[in-house]
Amino acid sequence: MLLTLERETQIRKKLPYTLTRSIKMVVLSTMKAFQLLFLLLVSCAVASTYPPSRLSSCQVVQMDVLCSNLSLRRAPVNLPPGVQMLDLSRNQVQNLSQETLANRNGFHHLKLHSNKIHFIQPGLFRNMTKLKVLDLSRNHLNVVALSKINIGALTAVESLDLSSNGLYTGMSDYFLADSPSLANLSLNSNSITKIAQNTFSGSLGLKKISLQNNVIMEIEEGAFDSLNHLTELDLSKNSITCITDFNLYNLKVLNLSKNSMELFESASSDTFYNLLYLDLSENKMPNFPLLPRKNMLKYLDISHNQLQTISECPEKKTCVLLSHLRYLDMSYNQLRTIPEYFFCLVKSLEVLNVSNNCIDSFSVSSESLLQRVRIIDLSYNSLQSLTFEEKTLPLLEELILQGNNLATLDHRIFQRLPSIKYLQLQKNNLKVCASEYRPELTDPNHQESHRCVSFSSVRNLQFLYLSENNLGTLPANAFANTPLKFLDLSLNQGLDLDKESLSGLEDSLDHLILRENNISSLNTDLSTLRSLKHVDLSTNQLTSLPTWNKESSIESLNLQNNNLVTLEYSTMLTLKSSLKTLYMGSNPLSCCKNLGSLYMVQQSAVVVPDIASVTCIHEEFSEPVNIEKVTVSMCHTKSTKSYIIIVILTLLVVMSMLALLVKCCRSRKQKYNRRFRA
Ligand SMILES: *[C@@H]1O[C@H](CO)[C@@H](O)[C@H](O)[C@H]1NC(C)=O
Ligand SMILES: *[C@@H]1O[C@H](CO)[C@@H](O)[C@H](O)[C@H]1NC(C)=O
Ligand SMILES: *[C@@H]1O[C@H](CO)[C@@H](O)[C@H](O)[C@H]1NC(C)=O
Ligand SMILES: *[C@@H]1O[C@H](CO)[C@@H](O)[C@H](O)[C@H]1NC(C)=O
Ligand SMILES: *[C@@H]1O[C@H](CO)[C@@H](O)[C@H](O)[C@H]1NC(C)=O
Repeated sequence: MLLTLERETQIRKKLPYTLTRSIKMVVLSTMKAFQLLFLLLVSCAVASTYPPSRLSSCQVVQMDVLCSNLSLRRAPVNLPPGVQMLDLSRNQVQNLSQETLANRNGFHHLKLHSNKIHFIQPGLFRNMTKLKVLDLSRNHLNVVALSKINIGALTAVESLDLSSNGLYTGMSDYFLADSPSLANLSLNSNSITKIAQNTFSGSLGLKKISLQNNVIMEIEEGAFDSLNHLTELDLSKNSITCITDFNLYNLKVLNLSKNSMELFESASSDTFYNLLYLDLSENKMPNFPLLPRKNMLKYLDISHNQLQTISECPEKKTCVLLSHLRYLDMSYNQLRTIPEYFFCLVKSLEVLNVSNNCIDSFSVSSESLLQRVRIIDLSYNSLQSLTFEEKTLPLLEELILQGNNLATLDHRIFQRLPSIKYLQLQKNNLKVCASEYRPELTDPNHQESHRCVSFSSVRNLQFLYLSENNLGTLPANAFANTPLKFLDLSLNQGLDLDKESLSGLEDSLDHLILRENNISSLNTDLSTLRSLKHVDLSTNQLTSLPTWNKESSIESLNLQNNNLVTLEYSTMLTLKSSLKTLYMGSNPLSCCKNLGSLYMVQQSAVVVPDIASVTCIHEEFSEPVNIEKVTVSMCHTKSTKSYIIIVILTLLVVMSMLALLVKCCRSRKQKYNRRFRA
């Protein structure tokens, strides 16, 4: 039978209160009878075609019964035999008992999150010897804990989620006291302030504990010591201020992000630590953490702290070698320098992020340092000097120097980085050298003002960002022998591109950004750049389109906010075959001079994302006209009208001449007549 208690109560609720009890009974029983009959028929039909696939409104998928979000107070009583997973999440379950689980014990996986569970029958899970995953998150388990009765053994449960249950210190004890198989525990988003020594004494098999987003201020000594299998501990988003004598040798992942940490000190022991990931970001650490001497740490995040120096270790012996470290993030601190000896300690480093500090000089002079570094982020510091000696940084691919106000650099600095691929130099004050630049030939008195950086023959450079550098000129052959694919020259007001500035990039350049450069005419021939697909020319003073020939393969073109009055039809026709996206809003386009181009855009597959703001000017309208509203006849009306006026005027002239002639003749005749009469 498929009818459940829920159905009956729902039916009852829907009836108006004014019905008398007897009517109610009659109605109810008739409805019940009908429903029973109907359901019987349906279930017969279903049973005869496939095995039971629906259960009241629940879905049955193989051995899983899915009853999420159906306002249920309990599981349907007619669960199919052998059900393994029951999803009762997002319902109205309050009492969790044998009865609410349809007296079944064979579950492997129970999803009970987002209910209103405030009572759990003691011993309920004892006989569920197959139950491995139990999700009780988002319930009212704090009420359960207030009764101070253990829920009893979690015989086989390996993964238990108790997050978002309003649990405070000590309350988890009633759920964990007897959970020998537990490996994965979440207590996230509760109100726990202290981890007592015995908190996990009933769950010694724990491998992963998540205590994120509580208010933990105290961890009693030895609270995790007996958990020999513990490898992951998430204590992020708590109120921990310091950790001393850190001695969890088996731990692989420790997350202490978003606490109030001022100190992290490992026990001074020669035991080997397995720690791989340590996240100390968003704390208040004034000093570099004291890490275990024997470690294999791979990932260290100390970003968003208050580091001012990387602690000195004048005697080599006292230094902690981080010889396995691959990733180090120290962004958003107050570092002024990174002493070179520090690089001796991190010889396997691949990613170094020291952005948003106060570093004024950075140098790598010894060949044996940082041989494996691929990415260095030095953005938003106050760099005045930057030096790399030959053969240092052989694998560096990405160098981020954005926002440093760098004005002087050794002019061949980037040629010393054999693998450099991405170079971010936005928001600096650099000048670009001509390819044949030789510093010895420039006037020594003016050397400072002539300092420039060479970008030619940087053998692997593909992405170059030079926006906001106050670039005045871009000399000829600036990128010769450099296989640039992407070049951003935007926001360099008044940039003067040499006619040959982009030569050498014919077969590589794919993306060119010349936005906000106040360019009034482009004297560089973009049509020679055969690989060019994306061009941004927005916010300039262009009065005409650059010319492109038949070989053009431009796919996206941004012409927004220029001084374009006409879009040359021949150029538009050339672009049509490859163009996919065209921006052209905020230009003083003429409606009638661009009929061909506008019609072409309207009819082609080109997408104009800013079409709403693309307007043109028509003498007869006081406001600019949206190009979608421009029609051929709009531009012919004027000539037709003048034609009519001319015709009318001619007619008028002819008529008045005729009238004059007639009058003349008549007066003569009259004269004659008069004379004749006289
Ligand atoms: C839940 O169970 C308790 C104890 O068995 C009982 O007192 C209470 O009435 C039950 N509540 C509901 C809503 O069934
Ligand atoms: C541990 O439990 C959490 C929360 O229930 C879950 O997201 C995670 O996948 C589980 N991890 C393992 C290894 O079982
Ligand atoms: C540490 O926790 C924070 C916040 O909960 C999270 O954003 C971060 O990804 C975690 N770190 C690691 C290494 O998992
Ligand atoms: C360095 O850190 C900053 C700030 O946290 C971040 O925005 C940037 O993406 C990081 N750089 C790299 C290369 O990961
Ligand atoms: C932009 O160029 C125009 C002339 O084309 C010039 O009058 C104006 O001063 C320039 N603006 C800036 C900010 O360079």
